[in-house]
Amino acid sequence: MLNASLPVKIMASLDCADYLHLIDDIRKLEQGGVDMLHIDIMDGHFVPNYALGTNLLRKLRPQTKLLFDIHLMTEQPEANTTLFAGLGADLITFHCETTSRLHQMVSLVKSLGKKVGLALNPSTPPAFLSYLLPYLDMVLVMTVDPGFVGQKFVPEAIGKVEEVRRMADAQHCPIDIAVDGGIGEKTVPLLKRAGANVFVGGTSSIFTGKGDIEALARDFRTLCEKN
Ligand code: DX5
Ligand code: ZN
Repeated sequence: MLNASLPVKIMASLDCADYLHLIDDIRKLEQGGVDMLHIDIMDGHFVPNYALGTNLLRKLRPQTKLLFDIHLMTEQPEANTTLFAGLGADLITFHCETTSRLHQMVSLVKSLGKKVGLALNPSTPPAFLSYLLPYLDMVLVMTVDPGFVGQKFVPEAIGKVEEVRRMADAQHCPIDIAVDGGIGEKTVPLLKRAGANVFVGGTSSIFTGKGDIEALARDFRTLCEKN
């Protein structure tokens, strides 16, 4: 199997949680053993939706030890990276479609002492990564067009994960490859086989609304580890 030596990591997509009982859900995610909260930031420009913001992060950061992956779905990430780094991000993931200054963005995130992830929309070719892979901690292969929870999985993303893993192996980069959107029972085995090792749990797994979130988080980890 590809990437056998890389640990499996589980992220929970906070935008899928129950906003009215957010802290309860976070406690359950902690108990359920997720590694990171995946926090979608939407600006209404790069994606036609708005989600999660600075005040929420300010309140949440002191409440949990879970790591924060800030998924910036915003135009001009250069303009807001310092702000989000200061709000307790551990990993900042921005989209390669949002800036022409990719190396500078990577350097900016690193200069702020954060890990850096680069996200690719389903239609974006992995060639974007050729000269950047050695500088990245994670590649986030979007498996839906970003902007909304609960969308239909784009199957072409499986081949893309495979291609990204091949590129990373060829450059001797033991990089995390994350997948986001429609990740669940049907898609995890295919994506893991293709080379993904970080799985974002949303409405197809941890937040199905059917059952206890703590148990669903545990089940999701088991699913991602066993396949
Ligand atoms: C999509 C977001 C995802 C989303 C995943 O815009 O980036 O993180 O919350 O949700 P599901 O798994 O329901 O597609
Ligand atoms: Zn996301």
